[in-house]
Amino acid sequence: MVDPVLACEGLTRRFPSGTALDGLTLDARPGEVLALLGPNGAGKTTTMRLLNGVLEPDAGTASVLGLDPWRQGEELRARTGVLTENAGLDERLTALENLTFVARIRGLDAAAARPRAMELLERFGMAHRADVRVQGFSTGQRKRVALARALLHDPELLFLDEPTSGLDPVATRDVVELIGSLAAEQGRTVVLCTHFLGEAGRLASRMAVLFSGHLHAFGTPAELAGELWTGIEVRIDLGRPPSDQLLATMGALTSVVQCVPLDHGLLARVTDRDAVPTLVSACVEAGERVFAAEPRQPSLEDVYFEIEARSARLGPTGDLPGLTR
Ligand SMILES: Nc1ncnc2c1ncn2[C@@H]1O[C@H](COP(=O)(O)OP(=O)(O)O)[C@@H](O)[C@H]1O
Ligand SMILES: [Mg+2]
Repeated sequence: MVDPVLACEGLTRRFPSGTALDGLTLDARPGEVLALLGPNGAGKTTTMRLLNGVLEPDAGTASVLGLDPWRQGEELRARTGVLTENAGLDERLTALENLTFVARIRGLDAAAARPRAMELLERFGMAHRADVRVQGFSTGQRKRVALARALLHDPELLFLDEPTSGLDPVATRDVVELIGSLAAEQGRTVVLCTHFLGEAGRLASRMAVLFSGHLHAFGTPAELAGELWTGIEVRIDLGRPPSDQLLATMGALTSVVQCVPLDHGLLARVTDRDAVPTLVSACVEAGERVFAAEPRQPSLEDVYFEIEARSARLGPTGDLPGLTR
């Protein structure tokens, strides 16, 4: 087992308005993209701030890059990069000035700061805007500049808070690609918060799902799917909706856990892959034409929405058995 880049146990933070984070325990491994998922107010930003040592915990412990975030925050932040929700650029400065300013604070001398800033602006497709004031930038351009800024000192660990919020689909795809390439570099670890699953979620190797400050699930999408559902899903294309009789026949097969109609066939949850040929022959015997039968792995979105639905039934503190290990 590799040493985790970050680990926390029982991390808790309260505000006068209530508990923002309640007993969070999780870890991240070197080079992984860990997604912190949950609706607005779930405690994602609070978690990042605690892990980066800009917020003091009320209880619990954390170790990030071998440091205690609250007691050794400055040392820690020299090795981490952050993209905050609103990017936080200086509107009156140009893109290049925003970067060189922070590069100087980060300890680069004037001779080194400018080329480093230009290198990153170029990499993020912003070199042509280097000398333009940030106040006229689109959300996507701001995110790029802020991402470049987060990388000036080549951090080992990146905290990205809602990196794609406010972006149009094309800018989203570009930023997601960028994040993917950042994570792939030199084992850099990325913690990514998002309330919008879409593209960003696809980068994640593991996901932690928070609701109202409670961790409701933590693991790889496949692990969580394995805990949430029995077996696999198979989509059978019949070129037309299934009859009630066919659905009943399929549902009665021992290997079929559940069977629902689709516009052009049906979706069956079966115990394992071996059930697929049985399903197909049952359709053929019933006089159907089978155009395709595809096993389908649940996506991160499927897993998230299922956890959300089950959590809503259990209430905010209800633990889903087996989902947080
Ligand atoms: N600085 C703060 N002062 C008071 N309440 C806060 C502060 N930061 C966060 N909270 C509260 O803590 C809860 C979690 O917030 P946050 O971590 O920002 O959630 P998320 O990032 O998942 O949307 C919310 O109810 C929020 O209002
Ligand atoms: Mg937030």
